[in-house]
Amino acid sequence: MTKPANAPNAPAATAPKAFEKTAAIILAAGQGTRMKSTTPKVLHTIAGRPLVHYPVRAAIEAGCEEVIVVVGHGRVEVEGYLKKAFGDRVKTALQEEQRGTGDAARAGLTRVGAEIARVLVFYGDAPLLMADDVGAVVRSLVDVEGAVLSLAICELADPTGYGRILRGADGNVIEVREQKDCKSDAERAIREINPGIYASSVEFMREAVGALTPNNAQGELYLTDIVAFAANLGKRVVPVTSRAEVLVGVNDRAQLADTEGTMAARIVRKHRVAGVTVRAGARIDDGVEIAADAIIETNAVLRGTTTIGKGAIVDVGCVLTNAEIGDAVRLQPYSVVTDSKVGLRAQIGPFSHLRPESVIEEDAHIGNFVETKKTRMGKGAKANHLAYLGDGIVGEGSNVGAGTIFCNYDGFQKHTTVIGKNAFIGSDSQLVAPVTIGDGAYVGTGTTVTRDVPADALAIGRAKQENKEGYGTRLRARLKAAKDAAATKK
Ligand code: UD1
Ligand code: CA
Repeated sequence: MTKPANAPNAPAATAPKAFEKTAAIILAAGQGTRMKSTTPKVLHTIAGRPLVHYPVRAAIEAGCEEVIVVVGHGRVEVEGYLKKAFGDRVKTALQEEQRGTGDAARAGLTRVGAEIARVLVFYGDAPLLMADDVGAVVRSLVDVEGAVLSLAICELADPTGYGRILRGADGNVIEVREQKDCKSDAERAIREINPGIYASSVEFMREAVGALTPNNAQGELYLTDIVAFAANLGKRVVPVTSRAEVLVGVNDRAQLADTEGTMAARIVRKHRVAGVTVRAGARIDDGVEIAADAIIETNAVLRGTTTIGKGAIVDVGCVLTNAEIGDAVRLQPYSVVTDSKVGLRAQIGPFSHLRPESVIEEDAHIGNFVETKKTRMGKGAKANHLAYLGDGIVGEGSNVGAGTIFCNYDGFQKHTTVIGKNAFIGSDSQLVAPVTIGDGAYVGTGTTVTRDVPADALAIGRAKQENKEGYGTRLRARLKAAKDAAATKK
């Protein structure tokens, strides 16, 4: 298949100047109590990836030289995910006890390399932010003369739960005050809030978080207090207006769903703009790639690392997980494809089930109620109805009839069925693996094949048919008499 032009996640081509010597510190150690879950908050998923994936990606795409994720709660799982997804590109710092966002930033600072000049600190529970959102905050720090600290701000119609931005008489930002620490209704009514993206020199950040005290309603070290720290020293704090809708943090599952809705709309829009027809109600994970002119119908679900080729049709209700779908493939409704490959122009479904490691080569057909597993269907081969093809290799141009079963499992081991090219497997046959059917061979309908069939041979293994003339009448008479005798007895 051709490589889709709209491949997501492409890193920024060149890192902007401001990001040289910049380290991102992403705070992700909290338990996320409000999720009411045994899974660490940042590992809850939206659009097929854990929450923490998105802020890390934003930092990488923004061109940050170092990316440090502060872990704590569910540390082993979070580190495991980061390693798998980002390899050595991401370092972690351990926050032993979750004593607040300020303490978490302090933990992150311990891992910042000696060469680094600036830090960008933000939260791991804000999946909608993108490289530009965090980038703008660093850029302001660099561009604004005398700036010591820059932070994102935005206005929300409903600011509930967010830290409020307090401004002095001269309009300068002087403090971020948490909802729980607001002293009046007037403060709670402030709609300018703190989305939680901060940039400063490493030196200033170390000094500011070093000075934090747990002097607040939650008894925590608040990262937000670095703002008052800077303002009290008479230093310049630069507010950077950000897009409100993308900076919403996820604290509970209602917000998780809202955020996923926004993310899903963003993903669908990206594909539509890139030339894919995506009908309303289709769901596409972040990691999916789709080439132009493909059609994704209502209620199709595309998950994981699925790729869809040019002009392919994914019809209503198909569920694809890590599937590689070639150009011009037609997946008819309600087909399920998992960890499998479908080649050029192949036709699948409706109601087909391709289980892991199935490879359907070009122009092959897999029809309704056919299940494959670890099976390769050669070019143009067909299995159009009701079959189980497990652990098989089916040669080019062969036809597998309705009701055929590859008997691949003996209760202990799996065995392979090999069918050569242009063979014909009659309906309702059982091929007891390991077994090989040669090129051009025939298997008669209803045969149980237990021995290899040579090329061009006919294998037939069924009882010979006998027709008894007039037997129907005699049988009916006998059965009726038996019934009448039973009735008179009663
Ligand atoms: C925080 C901000 C608030 C802002 C909001 C934006 C503070 C004190 N408040 O509040 O002003 O409006 O985000 O969404 O910073 N974390 C740790 N270690 C800890 C505590 C938290 O790593 O000890 C991490 C969490 O995993 C989370 C992030 O920091 O990813 C934010 O913590 P959270 O408790 O969600 O802060 P909010 O109450 O949302
Ligand atoms: Ca939060």
